Amino acid sequence: MKTIKPPVITSSEITPRELFYARRKFMQMTGGASLAALLPASVWAGDKLASSKNPHYTLPEELTPLKDVTSYNNFYEFGTSKESPAKTAGNFKTRPWTVTVEGEVKKPKVFDIDELLKLAPLEERIYRLRCVEAWSMVVPWLGFPLAELIKQVEPTGNAKYVEFVSFHDPEQMPGQKSPVLEWPYREGLRIDEAMHPLTLLTMGLYGEVLPNQNDAPIRVVVPWKYGFKSAKSIVKIRLVEKQPVSSWMLAGPKEYGFYSNVNPNVDHPRWSQAKERRIGEFLKRNTLMFNGYAEEVAQLYAGMDLNQNF
Ligand code: MTE
Repeated sequence: MKTIKPPVITSSEITPRELFYARRKFMQMTGGASLAALLPASVWAGDKLASSKNPHYTLPEELTPLKDVTSYNNFYEFGTSKESPAKTAGNFKTRPWTVTVEGEVKKPKVFDIDELLKLAPLEERIYRLRCVEAWSMVVPWLGFPLAELIKQVEPTGNAKYVEFVSFHDPEQMPGQKSPVLEWPYREGLRIDEAMHPLTLLTMGLYGEVLPNQNDAPIRVVVPWKYGFKSAKSIVKIRLVEKQPVSSWMLAGPKEYGFYSNVNPNVDHPRWSQAKERRIGEFLKRNTLMFNGYAEEVAQLYAGMDLNQNF
């Protein structure tokens, strides 16, 4: 993200905004009912992950082909070029793997990844992921709401924020030998953002476990925020009282704020955020407020100045 050139946008590139309407229509058709109770327990079967499609979270847009999702990545632990993770993450060891959940909680716990996979029914949810670099993807992710995990550890009244810490081992992750970011990769959310039903603890995509270059074995996906908020290869989730400082805030405090909600009206200091290139497409699309999830999340920021809290 430090190496990106500002995208060139011409005024003739206009894309229709039917997105909200198709989504709302679908919600009306399904009656907005909760599906969680109807979903069968997930089954772990090698590289495949059984899940049930959650029709609340679908999109009237084409999926980004699997080959693009797995070969165009931002995963600086495996190098800063988009192609590097697919080339260098092949031997990354994702078993055994544990995720420690600690801090302002009554019941801190170390979860084994295979235990986590069975903690709640896995759903397939189709989400947009909008990178701060003005490209985007549409991916069928497999996971369950992060709230399911947080509830298990019983947050105390002091738990105001959630910090995510990614794996750190320069031997396995050669990108960590370079000081391009402060390692390990850290990100954070406000507790209500972390508990929001859209925030997905993600273990798979396209019906299979996460490929190494896409963040194996576990990440979050926070679809209304720029992609860098969605930390990959998580080993620690810490509930804390003070707002955490993320690796990107340390790298460029004027460029990367804590909130980082997708907002076409607030430019990055070095480029516009008004449009984006969907990977695999030629013409740019208009970027949607909160990445198209405004109906669900805008109220989280009621009364806040989104220019200040970028
Ligand atoms: N998490 C870690 N640990 N390291 C990273 O470099 N890159 C972020 C985010 N999470 C990153 C990370 C950025 S900038 C983006 S856009 C998304 O992951 C990219 O996710 P994808 O490769 O699955 O598209």
